[in-house]
Amino acid sequence: MKKKYYITTPIYYPSGNWHIGHCYTTVICDALARFHKMLGEEVFFLTGTDEHGQKVEKEAAKRGITPLQFIDPLVAELKDMWKLLDISYDRFIRTTDQGHEKCVQKIYEKLFKSGDIYKSEYSGYYCTPCESMWTEAQLVNGKCPDCGREVTLQKEESYFFRLSKYAPRILKLYEDNPEFLQPKSRINEMVNNFLKPGLNDLCVSRTTVKWGVPLPFDKKHCAYVWIDALANYISALGYLSEDDALFKKFWAADLHLVGKEIVRFHAIIWPAILMALGLPVPKQIYGHGWLLIGGDKLSKSKQDAVKSELTDPYELVKRYGSDAVRYFLLREIPFGSDGEYTNEKLLSRINSDLANDLGNLVSRTTAMIGQYFGGTLPKRGKAEGVDGELVSMAEGAFGKVKSAMERLNAPEALSEIFAVVSRANKYIDETTPWILAKDESKKERLGTVLYNLAETVRICAILLRPFLTGAAGTILKSLGYSADAGFDELKFGGLKAGTKIEKLPPIFPRIDIKKELAEVAGLVKAKKAEKPKTEEKKVEEITIDDFAKVELKVGEVIACERVDNSDKLLHETVKIGEEVRSVVSGIAKYYSPEEMVGKKVVVVTNLKPVKLRGVLSEGMILCAEDTHGNLALVSPEKAMESGGSVR
Ligand code: MSP
Repeated sequence: MKKKYYITTPIYYPSGNWHIGHCYTTVICDALARFHKMLGEEVFFLTGTDEHGQKVEKEAAKRGITPLQFIDPLVAELKDMWKLLDISYDRFIRTTDQGHEKCVQKIYEKLFKSGDIYKSEYSGYYCTPCESMWTEAQLVNGKCPDCGREVTLQKEESYFFRLSKYAPRILKLYEDNPEFLQPKSRINEMVNNFLKPGLNDLCVSRTTVKWGVPLPFDKKHCAYVWIDALANYISALGYLSEDDALFKKFWAADLHLVGKEIVRFHAIIWPAILMALGLPVPKQIYGHGWLLIGGDKLSKSKQDAVKSELTDPYELVKRYGSDAVRYFLLREIPFGSDGEYTNEKLLSRINSDLANDLGNLVSRTTAMIGQYFGGTLPKRGKAEGVDGELVSMAEGAFGKVKSAMERLNAPEALSEIFAVVSRANKYIDETTPWILAKDESKKERLGTVLYNLAETVRICAILLRPFLTGAAGTILKSLGYSADAGFDELKFGGLKAGTKIEKLPPIFPRIDIKKELAEVAGLVKAKKAEKPKTEEKKVEEITIDDFAKVELKVGEVIACERVDNSDKLLHETVKIGEEVRSVVSGIAKYYSPEEMVGKKVVVVTNLKPVKLRGVLSEGMILCAEDTHGNLALVSPEKAMESGGSVR
């Protein structure tokens, strides 16, 4: 019986503004899926979209359209992007698919009946963009600790999942099976930050959100988006449906590959839900690192802030081709860690590895067979000393590539293949075919050299198929070989003498990096210039009466200290006229406590007081923020007594 391999990407929020960071998880999954297919395994590769929740509800309402009218074009865009990048998924699931919604309802029903879901009341701070609830203590400066945006206090009757009950079993799962969560550092993170401090039961329903899956036993509640989303991994296989053949065949998943920011949901909540359902847990969760830009995670807001880097996958594929973009993502970022993205790095990779190493090897080999043998592959004659190393490297590569891919390490797998490519280029320099060609008595040796080169190219191309989905096939075809050759055809000597070899033009033309970078910077600038107009329109207008509701006063900071256990927060004592207030603000990265004392600042004085990290905050100090997220205090331009009002 064929071995099964079930691999998933996270399902994507239909946010639009897709950037190259979004492509990372999916391109790696695709290479893994293709690799396992070539190993002869039966592969199921799942991806899709995560479409419910307040954010979509609000965005659609803002535009006066239905949530689906808002989402559908974004899903179509995402699918186009996967097509451009040659992503070979077996199923694209949408959480709005009827089958999925039914499955979510059945899951809730089951857990409610078993007592793992129960009714209670929830009060917390909700961040709409992150779809996350926070406790007061978790907020930073009264804002979402993840994205720094406004949160709203929500109190509601809710259903809870008994997550706390499963903490010991999850800890045991990590202990008994260290492969379950990788890389290792993520286990420590989960254990120290969440499991050891103790898990609370999880609120798994909302009455304030209408765009979601209604709970079958209480229709005014909708399923919590994360439970809805995680369930996709089993609903896509028909779990609890009439046709659950795929579920029986493929569950448990071999790999959920996810970005590190969503490991908590996959490595704690998801196994607990599966345990509660009496299902086996996935074999592995791997939390990969991020593509960074300017040191921060590449995201929609960073993408807007960065001046000259081109991050739009459509444009990148249009300019350099899908293979180049895939190659960069698979090769450049050390697997499991973060990696900085710049256009220059992308272009350097294209030039050095693809144009110089691989491209040159292929064009030189096919051109020489054309020139010296009229495009017909010569016979392989007697081997000489120098041939042995090339042949054994080419033949030995598969074992190394396989071992790297078993550890999900695509960069290492590619570096093994490119080591053979480099060896072959060196072999050309060592054997100097152009000199052999001058001497008729060396014709047989010349034939052997070119045969060995063509054969090495063939082996490399087969090995490259999961990664370079276009170029690998093109190379194989030029050698008169099948473009879908498998790993069982890696033995040296597979090409038949007499085969017609087609001379290939450079498959990856060299790029003039300086010129290209200048052009790209111009393009990005032009695109940015178009953007604000549309963005500005989205900001809601307010009346002067709305503005008058905010009371702003001049205050003087008379004392300031750091808030314990926080690298973001300062605690200021602010004199506002006769009154003295305690204010907490997230400016510790930009101002030291000493610098703050004596500063005149503008304070919002009628904000409801909150406690931040246990410290009372009775107002908010205003700051300006630039596009890079740098903060500067807002102060009256001339000397001004504290207590003065700001209008
Ligand atoms: N909808 C949730 C996942 C639910 S899965 C049950 C979600 N979606 S997402 O659209 O925000 O992210 C999709 C994937 O893109 C995640 O793996 C995320 O880590 C990845 N990336 C988004 N930006 C990224 C980088 N800058 N770098 C690398 N990958 C990142 O989370």
